[in-house]
Formats: sequence, C-alpha cells, structure tokens
Amino acid sequence: MTTPWNRRYAQRMQGMSSSVIRELLKLTQKPDIISFAGGLPAPEIFPVKEFETAVTHILQTQGSQALQYSPTEGYPPLRQFIAEKMSRYGIEATMDNILITSGAQQALDLIGRIMIDPGDVVLTESPTYLGALQAWKAYQAEFVSVPVDHDGICVDDRLEEALRAGPKFMYILPNFQNPAGVTLSLERRQTLVQIADQYGIPLIEDDPYGDLRFEGEHLPPLVALDAELQAKRPNKTNDNGFYRGDVIYLGTFSKTLAPGLRLGWMFAPRDVVKSCVTAKQGADLHTSSLTQMLAYEVVKDGFLDKHKQVIRRVYRERRDVMLAAMEKYFPPSVTWTHPQGGLFLWVTMPEELDATAVLEKAIANKVAFVPGTAFHPDGGGHNTGRFNFSNAKPEEIEIGIQRLGKVLADEMARLNSKPALEMA
Ligand SMILES: Cc1ncc(COP(=O)(O)O)c(C=O)c1O
Repeated sequence: MTTPWNRRYAQRMQGMSSSVIRELLKLTQKPDIISFAGGLPAPEIFPVKEFETAVTHILQTQGSQALQYSPTEGYPPLRQFIAEKMSRYGIEATMDNILITSGAQQALDLIGRIMIDPGDVVLTESPTYLGALQAWKAYQAEFVSVPVDHDGICVDDRLEEALRAGPKFMYILPNFQNPAGVTLSLERRQTLVQIADQYGIPLIEDDPYGDLRFEGEHLPPLVALDAELQAKRPNKTNDNGFYRGDVIYLGTFSKTLAPGLRLGWMFAPRDVVKSCVTAKQGADLHTSSLTQMLAYEVVKDGFLDKHKQVIRRVYRERRDVMLAAMEKYFPPSVTWTHPQGGLFLWVTMPEELDATAVLEKAIANKVAFVPGTAFHPDGGGHNTGRFNFSNAKPEEIEIGIQRLGKVLADEMARLNSKPALEMA
C-alpha cells in the first residue's frame, strides 16, 4: 500500500524491505513456543542486584552528573577501564582510542556513516551477522562474501579473489561467530592480518562473544596481531604511541552485563574515533550518561571477571544439553557445529530440505530457529539454520530439539515419498 510517506521514502529504503523470515519469526514471540531464534542472553543471570545497588549509589553521590548531557566520546572512567581491558591483549591502548557507543550495533552504523558511499563494496563472511548487513544496506553498500568453515573465514584464493573486488573494508567475527558459532584459527588470524596489510584493506573485528569461551585456549584478537605487525613498521606507529593500525575492534557489554544497557565501544585509531564522534553527534549526541556511570560503578572493582564465570558455566551447560539432544533426536543426515563458546550453533540439513519450510512446520509444532538464508549476503544457505542455546532453559532445550527432530524426520520422509516427477 502506498502512503504519502512511503511514496517519499529515500531510495535506500528499497533494500530494507521486510522478509518472509521476519514475518515468520514474529510468530515465535508467543509464550508457548520454545524459541532458539533470538540472540538473547539468559535473563536469570542478569546482575539485577548489582545494578540496583549501583543506581542508588550513583544517584545519591553523582545524581546531577548522571542526569546531565555528557561528552560524545563517553564517560572517561569507563573509557579508561576499557582501554585497560584492551591493554590486556598486549595493545598500547589509551582512552583516546576508545569511543563509547550505544551498543556495538551503533558502532557498525557509525562505520557505515563515515565509510560507505552508495555502491561501495564490503567484504563479509558468509554467513555473517545480520545486523551488520542491515546497518550497511542503509548506506547502500554492496557485499562480496567469503565462506566460513569450522575454522572461520576461508583464508585462501576465495578471499584474495574477493579482495580484488576492491572492498572498503573486511568485516570479521573471529570468536564463536554469530551465526555459525565457529572460531577463526590462530593460523588464519595471522594470515588474514598479513593479507589485509598486503592489500591495504582495513578490518572491522566484531567481538561480542570473545569473553564467553567455555573451553579451549583464548586466541589473540586480530587487533593485537595487527599491532604486532605494525610494530615492525615504525613509520606506521609514530602517532605518539597511540594505536594506528588497520583494525577497528568492536566490543560490547551486551553479553557480559546486559543488552538493555545498550553499551558498546569501538577501539580504533584516533582519526577514526574523531570522525565517528562527529557522526555520533548527529545520531544521538552521546550514549546515556546514567547508563555509562552505572556500568562503570558495577564493573570497576573486578565484578566482570567473576560474572563471566557464571555466564560461561550456564551457557556451557545449555550448549551441552543442545548438542546431546541433537545427537539423540536429529536424523543422522543433519549436522551441526560445536562452538567452544558464545550463544549460537549452526545446523546444516540435507540439501533437499528448505529451512524456511522447516521453520513453518516447526512453528506449528511450537519450536523455532532462524533459517540460514538471512545471514548470507550473496544468497545460499537454504538448508541451514541458526540455533541460540543461551536463552531457553535446559529442560526446554531438550523438548524443543526433540520436537524439531520429529519435524525434520517427517519433512525428510515426506520429500522421499514424493514421486520423481514432482521433485524434478
Ligand atoms: C556479531 C554481533 N555484533 C554486534 C551485535 C550488537 O550488539 P549490541 O547489543 O552491543 O548492539 C551483536 C548482537 O547480537 C552481534 O551478534
């Protein structure tokens, strides 16, 4: 239906239409559906008590400051805290390299604002984070993508070919990738940073899940490997000791504290921080002063380290329940990834199945997941799906996966019994 408004929409709105999947997912909001579709953390472990104490303390001691406008760059003590956290990776970080954003999602948007002209190419993984595609489609970006396997983005000829398309930057999710749950191997991290340097193409490293590792060894972020590489080139690091490399690192408190805070950050060379500050002024002036002060009050004395242990324990248990239930209930021709952390795993069904059709049947059976096509910027992934294991309780996970196992088996039986002509 055309209205006086949508007749006048900007051209870029054409790339932002609603999809069949989004319409289907609206149905998953009903309370009796077990949903593996969202990306929601477990609400039972939100640090509500700690925030309750912090809010009283902040309002009593610094109430006027907390309710006042504040600098666009962010609350200095919080920026300093993050700079110290980044220094743990061996990067020379100062708070001048940090911009506080309204969630990492805003950092993605700001990068779009300062970097993308209509028709510019962005190199992504396939599958990749849907929210980044949405943010950059608004600036009329085009995408070129490189597949992801069990060790993350395939750092081979396919990457080099994609780089020849002349992307503005590469967008990489190194840890427990959303949506596939896979982690970029150390070897690939090293090669990727070298290739980026060789082609002169900067990298956006989006890392909301890196702190949520349940097993295996912590791997250095791309930004640290890049800093090592730059250190060998003194002419590239002479910005008075400030980070000046080719990687912008995005972090967030959404998965370690609570997503409702809308609190993330960008770690970047100072000139990028400055440009994003200008862009952010046009977007929201600054991230909520009160929220930043509250978060700082909660994290300043080491709370995060303790709390992350709780999150890891709870998510690890849920992941294990989901993996065991898939082993028990899914047909043998269905496969899935085994994430070492994070919130998601990725399911691959037999080629002949269409995950969107499976979702329709799944919703009728009161269970949901997200079909994989949405995460593929260049199409593909019709038989794949993203499953979130952090939000549902273990007993619900078991029941939900059992229901899905039946839906999958029925769907496969139905397709196998179709006459050959109909299948052609
Ligand atoms: C890869 C990735 N980047 C960014 C975000 C946005 O996070 P935030 O809540 O900090 O805006 C998410 C959220 O799920 C994500 O998975």
